[in-house]
Amino acid sequence: MRISLRSICAAALVLATLCLVVILNKDNSSYDVTSDISQRQLPSVQKQDVTHSPDDDVLDPALAQNLPQPACDRNDSMVNVTGFASLPQHIKNFLFYRHCRHFPKLLDVPDKCGGPQGSSNVFLLLVIKSSPPNYDRREVLRKTWAEERQHRGRWIRRIFISGVSDTGFERQRLNKMLQLENQQYNDVLQWDFEDTFFNLTLKQVLFMEWMEQRCPGAHFMLNGDDDIFANTDNMVEYLRDLPDDNDGNKHLYVGHLIRWVGPIREKWSKYYVPVQVQESESYPPYCGGGGFILSGYTLRIIYQMSHSIPLLPIDDVYMGMCLEKAGLEPVSHFGVRTAGLPVPSSKVDPYHPCYYREILLVHRFLPHQIYLMWNRINEPNLKCDGSQVS
Ligand SMILES: *[C@@H]1O[C@H](CO)[C@@H](O)[C@H](O)[C@H]1NC(C)=O
Ligand SMILES: *[C@@H]1O[C@H](CO)[C@@H](O)[C@H](O)[C@H]1NC(C)=O
Ligand SMILES: *[C@@H]1O[C@H](CO)[C@@H](O)[C@H](O)[C@H]1NC(C)=O
Ligand SMILES: *[C@@H]1O[C@H](CO)[C@@H](O)[C@H](O)[C@H]1NC(C)=O
Repeated sequence: MRISLRSICAAALVLATLCLVVILNKDNSSYDVTSDISQRQLPSVQKQDVTHSPDDDVLDPALAQNLPQPACDRNDSMVNVTGFASLPQHIKNFLFYRHCRHFPKLLDVPDKCGGPQGSSNVFLLLVIKSSPPNYDRREVLRKTWAEERQHRGRWIRRIFISGVSDTGFERQRLNKMLQLENQQYNDVLQWDFEDTFFNLTLKQVLFMEWMEQRCPGAHFMLNGDDDIFANTDNMVEYLRDLPDDNDGNKHLYVGHLIRWVGPIREKWSKYYVPVQVQESESYPPYCGGGGFILSGYTLRIIYQMSHSIPLLPIDDVYMGMCLEKAGLEPVSHFGVRTAGLPVPSSKVDPYHPCYYREILLVHRFLPHQIYLMWNRINEPNLKCDGSQVS
């Protein structure tokens, strides 16, 4: 694509002006938390974000897509860290790029929440981490628990967050597929970074930045994986009836609470975190990352805290660190079963819909199981008289 010098200059001028406006506005934002936000930085605004902003249609978005992003360089001095050479490759990669927090956005859904102003109409935003190849999971979620709809007069919206997978032609094909999905459903946010397990925290942080820009008014979020079964109708009812008139403007962070654990130092483990990544032997309390529920208020604070906390590869623990720094606590909810549901005896069907009608969320469901369960719990003549559930 050829871009004339004049249009580049014009674009730069518009961007500079916008950045200034954004920075001036940002300067005035304040948060109720008084704890350590001294290190708060101004979130840097990416060029593309600015171009998509609702009050600016000056630049062609296609042009914006091609604007070069400042590359984040590999930190080569990491090789001098003690024991670096013997670390597994994925951990080396993590350390090399740990400081990088900005990646080009490949797909955006700027109007997902009706723009920043309209976003207070979104009651529950379903934020689902999904890797590019997981087409079948996204497809089934779209027509089951993650369907965009109103329940009891409250809007439920959906967004999948993704990086890039694979290499070469396959990478291009997967990107094209996500692009097609986004054209049809308007529900995919994608950034140009490797969608790996150890980059999940990066994905989370990028998402929180997006929230602040695009959807600051949403009341509540379900933050979870694409292999969970979530009873989103129950979730809306639970959130609607929270104590203390919490409509998302107060602290809320609930899920499967995990406490008194620390980094796994076993090299074979998927969760292996060596001392080179984290020295401390303990993790703060956190909610299991399969799925947890939080308020818009709490998400904003976590994002603010994240600016001054180095990324840790385990995303749910990282959220716990941000909460701890803000002096906020994660709380357990009985209905969130990321470790599965206990079934009373081997004689009863562990997938009986009556078990799932009352819960908020269960981890590890296959697409066909999600499809079946969602339809079964919504059957009008489903009777749960206690004989299935003891
Ligand atoms: C911040 O915003 C409020 C309300 O919009 C306004 O009254 C106040 O003057 C602003 N403060 C600064 C420093 O811009
Ligand atoms: C690693 O340390 C050595 C010795 O201090 C130094 O010469 C070298 O430049 C360092 N390498 C990097 C990539 O920082
Ligand atoms: C790069 O790594 C070195 C060694 O761990 C560290 O001291 C330095 O702060 C890092 N640089 C950046 C930009 O993160
Ligand atoms: C995270 O993504 C960046 C950018 O694509 C990549 O360089 C890095 O290796 C990834 N880190 C891990 C741990 O996969």
